[in-house]
Amino acid sequence: MDPFNWGIIGPGNIATDFANDLQFIHAVPQQIKAVLAHTTESGERFSKKFSVEQVFTDIRKFLDVELDAVYIATPHTLHYEQAKACLQHRIPVLCEKPITINTEQLEDLLKLSRETNTFLMEGMWTRFLPSVKKVLDLLQEDKIGKIISVRANMNYRAPHDKSNRFFNPDLGGGSLLDLGIYPVFLASLLLGKPYSIKAAAIVSEEGIDQACSILMNYNNDQYAILESSLITQTELVAEIAGEKGRIRILSPWTEMPAGLLLEIYDEVKMEFPCKWEGKGFQFETGEVIQCIQQKRIESPLMPHSLSLEVMKIMDEVRRQVNVKYKKFE
Ligand SMILES: NC(=O)c1ccc[n+]([C@@H]2O[C@H](COP(=O)([O-])OP(=O)(O)OC[C@H]3O[C@@H](n4cnc5c(N)ncnc54)[C@H](OP(=O)(O)O)[C@@H]3O)[C@@H](O)[C@H]2O)c1
Repeated sequence: MDPFNWGIIGPGNIATDFANDLQFIHAVPQQIKAVLAHTTESGERFSKKFSVEQVFTDIRKFLDVELDAVYIATPHTLHYEQAKACLQHRIPVLCEKPITINTEQLEDLLKLSRETNTFLMEGMWTRFLPSVKKVLDLLQEDKIGKIISVRANMNYRAPHDKSNRFFNPDLGGGSLLDLGIYPVFLASLLLGKPYSIKAAAIVSEEGIDQACSILMNYNNDQYAILESSLITQTELVAEIAGEKGRIRILSPWTEMPAGLLLEIYDEVKMEFPCKWEGKGFQFETGEVIQCIQQKRIESPLMPHSLSLEVMKIMDEVRRQVNVKYKKFE
């Protein structure tokens, strides 16, 4: 069977995890045919590790390689131009979160994906984890009744080093786009579009949100309380509370091994531990391969509309807390 040929843009930390997990896809042999790096050294380091055929530092040459799909894992502010270049060459794209830094850029990419009939998906890998599928199954089985609230955070205390992307506005820094996107995604997946958004943030001297909190209200008497932070380390929470019970994701956002806890109020508590090979990128990657084989331009599980909904919320939050990526907006 012919291998599925990947091109990788940005051979950093997450691209290494992604590449490692390709070994757990068994349906089709996986190969990384080309890598586009910032420097030849980092490209060659990656290519040695994963037996990549070709290393490039020029995107035009990289795009001349015959590829089945490209995975983009550069800092956020590069995603738009790199995804656009791939789509213009009709090469399917899996792009790390956040897929772009704002709605305007995203709408442009979605239009291009439709015009070129080329697959595009945001790499919201948690969407495809068995733990999230189990949450959706439990909700479908009406175990907790109507959802009343989603409470979630992602707080990770990053070293305050201006050279890293977290605090650098020119690389799309800030807690919301890097970390807060996971809680915003969970709320959007489960509750849809909010009718009101209220946000507060601690903004750094560089002008990025070091910590951010969001309160959203939905029709049908539902709400979400979300938080992200680059300056505190706290217990991570992802909890869905309903009329009859609640579901807690016990190790958000890696999920393994604790899995889920389902509690029916004052009755039973049930645990659903999780275990899979590697970090779990193979679930997302498997979906991409399947969609491309079926000649889809979007995944039914992580559709363009869901990325757009999340991006619109993040735009509104940034508007309220006055965080602007001046170089790009
Ligand atoms: N799905 C997840 O769980 C997850 C987790 C972490 C991050 N992410 C996302 O993935 C992206 C990358 O994060 P990371 O933590 O992997 O960052 P990282 O370790 O800094 O990796 C970024 C890579 O991109 C390279 N790069 C920079 N500019 C480039 C260019 N113009 N062309 C090609 N390569 C370039 C960097 O090379 P140099 O080092 O040589 O500059 C580095 O190899 C971010 O958008 C982040 O939000 C996702």
